[in-house]
Amino acid sequence: RIPVIIDTDPGVDDAFAIALALHSPEIEVCAVTATYGNVSLAKTASNVQRILALAGRTDVPAAPGAARPLIHEQAEVAPDWHGADGLGLRAHEYPAVESDGARTALSMMAEVLRRSSTPVTIAGLGPMTNIALLLAVHPELTPKVGRIVAMGGSLGLGNTRGAGEFNVYADPEAAHRVLSQPEIPVTLVPLDMTMNCPADGEWLEQLYSAGPRCATLVRTARLYREVFYEKYGQDAVVLHDMLAMMEVVSPGALAATPQPITVDCTMGPERGRTSPGPRSAAGTSVDVALEADSKTVLTESLRRISCMH
Ligand code: BDR
Ligand code: CA
Repeated sequence: RIPVIIDTDPGVDDAFAIALALHSPEIEVCAVTATYGNVSLAKTASNVQRILALAGRTDVPAAPGAARPLIHEQAEVAPDWHGADGLGLRAHEYPAVESDGARTALSMMAEVLRRSSTPVTIAGLGPMTNIALLLAVHPELTPKVGRIVAMGGSLGLGNTRGAGEFNVYADPEAAHRVLSQPEIPVTLVPLDMTMNCPADGEWLEQLYSAGPRCATLVRTARLYREVFYEKYGQDAVVLHDMLAMMEVVSPGALAATPQPITVDCTMGPERGRTSPGPRSAAGTSVDVALEADSKTVLTESLRRISCMH
């Protein structure tokens, strides 16, 4: 089984992604680390614990990481989509869990990497601050990382303040660090792919009927579904992080093209834009997942998450 570290900012679609990972026999979830993102770190860290408890997997180690981006003092948040609690105003429906707060994301990630005898996949579902810090602080552990699969970026339209996609916009310097390093293969799952793969109302209803835990998960997405309907006039949700997780559990599920990616780290209106090229001296490129058989990806994620009942 592929050992996996999930770095995440739950987040409605993060919750679906974690549920998918926990019900995929090809992988072993070795740790779930939290980053600030859709809501504050205090909330994302507590949501990680709640999601693990909902799935009956409090045995999976979890720890909080960065509370803010590398450079900017203030973290970008997205409560309009995810609710002020990060779980669609439904966090209270999840089992509450006390954390001893003794561990940090960085030490937990390093320990998993050090102990693993097989290459570890890092699934990045939020701003890439924790992952960039890991690369900066523990260069000796990069050979232990088999690949990074990160949801982020857009070659077309952004979804945050114009040009940027949320995860990249939240910390462009961290994204730059992750996407420009030549040692670890990176698969980037951008909006261009995820926006073409909406889960419709019927998909949600089917998951709802799978059992009470699945029903809680689907209720988490109600606000998200309403906002999507208001914005796009379609009864659907785009579960970005869940789609990226399909690539983690089933490598090659998304068709990717290698290309160099530049992250705009200027402080102006282009901040956070991800664009193709130019080829760097090191020849670093990223596998950009631009296409998927959306029907298969959605059917397969539904089948797996439904096992949570
Ligand atoms: C990404 O931003 C967050 O709001 C989602 O959880 C996802 O990771 C989509 O742009
Ligand atoms: Ca996320």
